Order: sequence, then structure tokens, then C-alpha cells
Amino acid sequence: MATTPDTAPSIHAEDEDGDAVRRDAAPAETSRASRSWWDRNADEYQDEHGEFLGDDRFTWCPEGLDEAEARLLGPAGSLRGLDVLEIGAGAAQCSRWLAAQGARPVALDLSFRQLQHSRRIDLGRGGEPVAVVQADAEVLPFADGAFDLACSAYGAVPFCADTAALMREVHRVLRPGGRWVFSVTHPIRWAFPDEPGPEGLTATASYFDRTPYVEQDETGQATYVEHHRTLGDRVRELTAAGFQLLDLVEPEWPAGLEQEWGGWSPLRGRHFPGTAIFVARRG
Ligand SMILES: C[S@@+](CC[C@H](N)C(=O)[O-])C[C@H]1O[C@@H](n2cnc3c(N)ncnc32)[C@H](O)[C@@H]1O
Repeated sequence: MATTPDTAPSIHAEDEDGDAVRRDAAPAETSRASRSWWDRNADEYQDEHGEFLGDDRFTWCPEGLDEAEARLLGPAGSLRGLDVLEIGAGAAQCSRWLAAQGARPVALDLSFRQLQHSRRIDLGRGGEPVAVVQADAEVLPFADGAFDLACSAYGAVPFCADTAALMREVHRVLRPGGRWVFSVTHPIRWAFPDEPGPEGLTATASYFDRTPYVEQDETGQATYVEHHRTLGDRVRELTAAGFQLLDLVEPEWPAGLEQEWGGWSPLRGRHFPGTAIFVARRG
């Protein structure tokens, strides 16, 4: 088992063999690590979380906030006919919900294996498959102004080294006025041990330490990376790219939800937020 450092707010299921450390990780190293980690772990991720996510639901976070109720992308009925880019789509569960609302989603992910799970779900259901694209979110393979809306449920944002570049890319591919809505681990979680129990309630690290969380093999090569930004960093990256921040949603842990997801648990959810959802509009 990996030696988990004090802060490791990983959305993934469990550590692999190797060291877990806080150190710098450049975009190329991060991207390489993410692609192979998600390819190797997509089966386990879908096995473990597929039922919670649902094949055609749009779930923003482990707190279970559902777009059908939250309507962060726009009011009911407003998605019909829109070109939507889902970034870090995994098995494209959210895109399937978007298609059912009459939108035209494109599900982008770095991991081929995750996208194979999208195809698996589509084949099992019949009907029109979700359009999928394998690409890195930091370099979107689309023309300027190709989409009306972009969204991401814990997709690429926590896994990209240069999220300022990612925000600029999303701005480029959106049409004027288009929304960009994404969920990430709430930045405050980086100050706490990533444990669902009481040990996860005491701050042990600095919220201000932006050093990435890296799992690495015996040669020192990164096998998994997550990057941290404070709330202020995220706001600055959005506004610098030309977005206007409309809302910052911090979903509360709902009564009755007992299911844990890694360090996300009812106990911790009662004390402080686990997810931040940024709702922005392209200027
Ligand atoms: C925690 S999963 C979330 C997937 C899906 N949104 C869900 O809710 O299940 C993160 C996804 O982001 C993808 N990802 C990580 N880095 C990426 C990048 N640089 N570009 C595109 N996708 C990336 C991973 O392959 C993985 O499918």
C-alpha cells in the first residue's frame, strides 16, 4: 500500500503500490500519469461507482446533487438543441442525460478505457450512442465557438497541471454567453487527511500549499496526480480567461445518504463541504 501523506483528497478508489508524496508535476508528466491510471482503473471505477452514477443521470458529486434538480446548466427545457461539451466524461453518464434533454453532447476523456465503458453502456441500451472523443482537456480538438455549453463533473479539472490553460481552452471553444459549469473537490479538503472517519476532521496541512498530490513508482515516475487550487485561484483563472462567475455551489450532505466515496462521508459532510461547483458564463 502507498504511504498516504497527510493530505490526499483523491477522488479515486484506493492507492496503488508506490509512494504518495507532495511534489511538482508538470503538464506532460501529469497527463501521462492520468491517462495510464484511468486506463488501468476504469473497470474498477465503473464497478464501484457505476450504480451510484447511473447510466444516464447527471450527478455532480459524491453528495449526490443531481442536475435534474439543481439546474445549474440552465432551466428545464433550455438544453434542447444545444451543442454541449462534457469534459472528463468517464463513461459519459452525464452526456446521456443531456441527450435525453434534447442536447447534442460530445463526451471527451483522456482515457480510452473510460470511453469504452461509455460504448459498453450504449451497446447495452441500444439507440443512438453518445459521441465520444479521446483528448486532453488542456488542448481541446475543436474549432473556436463550437459549443453552447461546457460541463464537467469531477472530470479533468482536478487532474490538469495547467488549469489556467484549460479555462482558456474552454473559453475558446464556447460561443459568447455560453456556460461553463464544473465540479471539483472543495479546496478546503486539501487541509485535511483524506479519511472518511473522525481523523479526517482535523486540519493537518496548509490550505495554501499548492504542491500537487503525486503517487509515484519505484523509479520516481508519477502514476497518479491531483492538483490543488484555492477558491481564489479558481476565481482568478476563470476571470483571467474571460469568464464571469455566476455562482459557487457547495452542496450539503443530504439527510439519508449513507454511502461513502473515499474520503467523502456523512460524518465529514456534516462539518464542511466536500465539493465546489463553479458556474460561469463566457463573456
Ligand atoms: C473522477 S473521473 C469523473 C468521470 C465522470 N465525470 C464521472 O462523474 O464519473 C475523472 C475523469 O477525468 C478524466 N481525465 C483526467 N485527466 C484528464 C484530462 N487531462 N483530459 C481529459 N480527461 C481527463 C479521467 O480519465 C476520468 O475519466
